[in-house]
Amino acid sequence: MRVLSGIQPTGRFHWGNYFGAIQQYIDLQNEEESYYFLANLHALTTIRDADQMRELTLEAALDLLALGLDPEQAILFVQSDIPQVSELTWLLMTGTPFGLLERCHAYKEKKEKGISADAGLFTYPVLMAADILAYDSDVVPVGSDQVQHIEVCRDLAGSFNHQFGDVFVLPKAKVLDAAHKVPGTDGEKMSKSYDNTIELFEPVKSMRKKVMRIPTDSRPMEDPKEPDDDLLYQLYSLFVDQAARDDMASTYRQGGFGYGDIKKALADAAEAYFAPARERREALAADPDRVHQILGDGAQLARKKAGDVLERAQQACGLKL
Ligand code: ADP
Ligand code: TRP
Repeated sequence: MRVLSGIQPTGRFHWGNYFGAIQQYIDLQNEEESYYFLANLHALTTIRDADQMRELTLEAALDLLALGLDPEQAILFVQSDIPQVSELTWLLMTGTPFGLLERCHAYKEKKEKGISADAGLFTYPVLMAADILAYDSDVVPVGSDQVQHIEVCRDLAGSFNHQFGDVFVLPKAKVLDAAHKVPGTDGEKMSKSYDNTIELFEPVKSMRKKVMRIPTDSRPMEDPKEPDDDLLYQLYSLFVDQAARDDMASTYRQGGFGYGDIKKALADAAEAYFAPARERREALAADPDRVHQILGDGAQLARKKAGDVLERAQQACGLKL
């Protein structure tokens, strides 16, 4: 079985991205043949500064490698290094009903807000379908916000197969655990759009400062509190094992604690949790040739696979004489 997923390098990764997506992709690399890529062509619909695009793409690669993505186990590459995907996008585009794309939420939401969308954003799901189909992917792990796009991919592949024969493998979405919806520093879903994120590799000092500034209620010190509804407890639980979670829960239920101590425990736990990855990241950052090599090797393997699939599609629709 082949697993594939992409992530846009549109900002530095935060705790939400890690626990909601990245950690789960990385876990899958040990079980299945896996392809992971940095979706810079998708990011081009929002990032319009060349230096920033280069920097964010490389930073994202460093992050994934430091977090445990193992180039011996998984194929890691940059989306735009595989031109076959863009070519496949066109083949799919010719059979894509306009109405199908009009119903896709990224475009629909922008339009509803009165923001003008370009053709890149409008056709974004077709590029995503090509990303998936180009590697005969069976399973696509994604957050629930992307499930609609996998449905579009299946629709497009199904109708291409119907017209031209059995060319594409129909993929299945693997919806990543919704229990991992990580709250941000304001209690809403952590997202770079809400300015409530804590980045995975931001300097420890700034991470600790953000934790110490998380707003808390003004309950008297001695009152017991239900841990499960508490933002600090939810965040703390991400970083510790069940025994530490239970200890903290009983502290809440006993009352008499100060939020300052909980925040300190949270900051300590987060710092310790990411310390090994932070160390690996520093070593990798000092060796940019190695990172380029990994991405280059990954792209080579990905191009080979995508080339075979593109050839199959071109044959089927009569583009090859
Ligand atoms: P952002 O909301 O910061 O723009 P993205 O939409 O780029 O993040 O998300 C990339 C991946 O991380 C997606 O698979 C998404 O489901 C996951 N993700 C983002 N934020 C969270 C969160 N707070 N909790 C769980 N998963 C998240
Ligand atoms: N659209 C996805 C996101 O914003 C990223 C992505 C692009 C992707 N191509 C993909 C995810 C193919 C899975 C498969 O999160």
